[in-house]
Amino acid sequence: MKQKFTLLLLSFCTTLFFGQGKMPIIISTNNTALVYTLNHKKQLTQLYFGKALQNANEYNLKSPNNLPAIITAGAGPVREPAFGVTHADHNPSLELVYVNHQTTQNGDIQETKIELKDPAYPFYITLYFKAYQKENVIEQWAVVKHQEKAAVTLNHFASAFLQLTANQYYLTHFFGDWANEMRIEETKLPEGIHSIQSKLGTRATNFDNPSFMLSVDQPASENSGEVLAGTLAWSGNFNLDFENIQYSEDFGNLLQVLPSINNYDSDYVLKPNTEFKTPTFIYTLSYKGKGQASRNLHHWAINYGVYHGQNHKRTLLNNWEATQFNFDEQKLTHLIENAHEIGVDVFLLDDGWFGNKYPRNSDNAGLGDWEPNKKKLPDGLPFLVDQAKKNKVMFGIWVEPEMVNPKSELYEKHPDWVLKLPNRETDLRRSQLVLDLTNPKVQDYVFGVVDKILTQNPGIGYIKWDCNRYMTNPYSPYLKDKQSNLFIDYTLGLYSVLNKLRQKHPNIELMWCSGGGGRAEYGGLKYADEFWPSDNTDPLQRIYIQYGYSYFFPMSIQAAHVTNWGNQPLKFKIDVAMAGKLGFDIQIDEMKPEEKELAKTAVQNYKRLETVINEGSLYRLKAPYNSHNASWMIVSPNQDKAIFYAYNLNVLFGDVFEPIKFQGLDSKKRYRLTEINLMQNQKPQVPQNNQTFSGDYLMKIGIPWYLNGSIKSSILELNAIN
Ligand code: GLA
Repeated sequence: MKQKFTLLLLSFCTTLFFGQGKMPIIISTNNTALVYTLNHKKQLTQLYFGKALQNANEYNLKSPNNLPAIITAGAGPVREPAFGVTHADHNPSLELVYVNHQTTQNGDIQETKIELKDPAYPFYITLYFKAYQKENVIEQWAVVKHQEKAAVTLNHFASAFLQLTANQYYLTHFFGDWANEMRIEETKLPEGIHSIQSKLGTRATNFDNPSFMLSVDQPASENSGEVLAGTLAWSGNFNLDFENIQYSEDFGNLLQVLPSINNYDSDYVLKPNTEFKTPTFIYTLSYKGKGQASRNLHHWAINYGVYHGQNHKRTLLNNWEATQFNFDEQKLTHLIENAHEIGVDVFLLDDGWFGNKYPRNSDNAGLGDWEPNKKKLPDGLPFLVDQAKKNKVMFGIWVEPEMVNPKSELYEKHPDWVLKLPNRETDLRRSQLVLDLTNPKVQDYVFGVVDKILTQNPGIGYIKWDCNRYMTNPYSPYLKDKQSNLFIDYTLGLYSVLNKLRQKHPNIELMWCSGGGGRAEYGGLKYADEFWPSDNTDPLQRIYIQYGYSYFFPMSIQAAHVTNWGNQPLKFKIDVAMAGKLGFDIQIDEMKPEEKELAKTAVQNYKRLETVINEGSLYRLKAPYNSHNASWMIVSPNQDKAIFYAYNLNVLFGDVFEPIKFQGLDSKKRYRLTEINLMQNQKPQVPQNNQTFSGDYLMKIGIPWYLNGSIKSSILELNAIN
């Protein structure tokens, strides 16, 4: 009873505030709104988060809720804090009150800035929101600064703090390991705090991805249910907290979602008048299941999230699986000719091309010494770049500039440039150590490595940036008494290098790689055109990996290569790689003539269809989980073209699967179905090849499953006819 009375009183106070015309603050896309107002203490409270109202004035009619939107450490409700600080005078508490806000519209993007302040200290937090109208995606982050007499210590620094109320929550989380990335698990959230986190420092997404989907009351399906999908743009340690507590009989449980840099071992020392910016949290609310949530994120990614997201997607030939460290000029020249022969755009020279005193002939030496190995490449990189030019392919090169092998000249010269604990045995992973990117001199060196390669060889247009170990030995000789800044300053140092690189070399295509999928996140993709999802290129397993990533990342930025992994027919391998960003990493000479022809045809098909793959909308039709088949399709923005992918994953014969009902087509248009990527003389597998159907028919009745037998694949092109 007492509680109800307090709520009433508070609602009255807030209504008074509305009367002053300042509130509420509406952050809104075309279909979602996040609305804040103030309580009697002038604290921000979340009034609403859900479907946008047609009439924005009507948000005022909703009863406000007294809960502060932002839990701060040491003051107010004792729940997981979004922000916490130990002030310069050692006061460990934070209060935040509203100062002002501003909303501006900039084309598709509504930008909101809310300023908050600790009433007793010159300590400020500004919240930023970018609401992408068409994409229905919101980006949110915060900037902390202060003018206290000495440094403060930040101990909680969330990027966002969303509140939901429902009876129960279902969390879909994406996890794995090397060669087994992005497995999917959906669980009912227990009460209390559930966290998804990384403490790996570098290669941070090796085990868990900083992304999730959350549905309320019941698990969402592909096409129905309300889903919050979110992902944190940060290449270092992250933490996604889901705090689920009993709230009230009327509202069920209150869930607080706190995506953040992980504060593990990271009390951050912030000097006066310097800014601390949290990474952005990117999220969308879908009212039509997980499929729509993914499409929202994909469209945002291509338009805003990925560096040069809308650019042409180049196909390539890589030499890693084909040669490993064992190559010379002659072998590489031949591979470059192979690249030309099958028609790809880029030849990518992988690991092993550098190091002289300590040649890089295996992974235990040479990392750090970025001079071409004179024995393997007597004429240096210019010769190879020239060969590529002659063969009309772009030259690309692998680097791992954040790392060093102790067996290297760099380490001999700068033993103090690595992360290494005093008085402890040094922990090597893949025989290498992490360079201390908190040190500006090391940042300059890392930038210099890549800059020199690109400046001396203007013909190089593509970089594969790798990072093959996670951080242990977490001690920076540079940071001295500020060791707890290490994890965060490392990632900031990395971004500062990438920023500089992008300023000087804006057009280079960059693949973001980390011993497979150890850096699949949007923090790095701000600088990178694509990422390497996994070293596992066995197509039967890659299907699961690519499918998992598809929840958050467009297929077109997942580099997918045809290799010798797996013993499936080449067609199957090509059809799986063709669902991502097509590449080859295989001895072309070992292909049979008909296989080579298929590779060439697939490259041509890919070039013709890449815009659909990149800009289109993805519909996941059948998950590879719990079944022996998988299929999805991508439909162009104007619904004139679509690509349909089908795979029979059965290793035995005889399954008959449900019919295929297409999605995302225009029901009024007629589409011709054409099977592509066929081997020479191979008959189309789909009986309806070359026939036309209305979109209505294809979506309501569909066609029978036609891929019978084991390990089969098929790609159909759908073209609307006039
Ligand atoms: C990592 C990458 C591979 C390859 C090797 C080279 O494992 O994921 O693709 O570049 O490094 O050492």
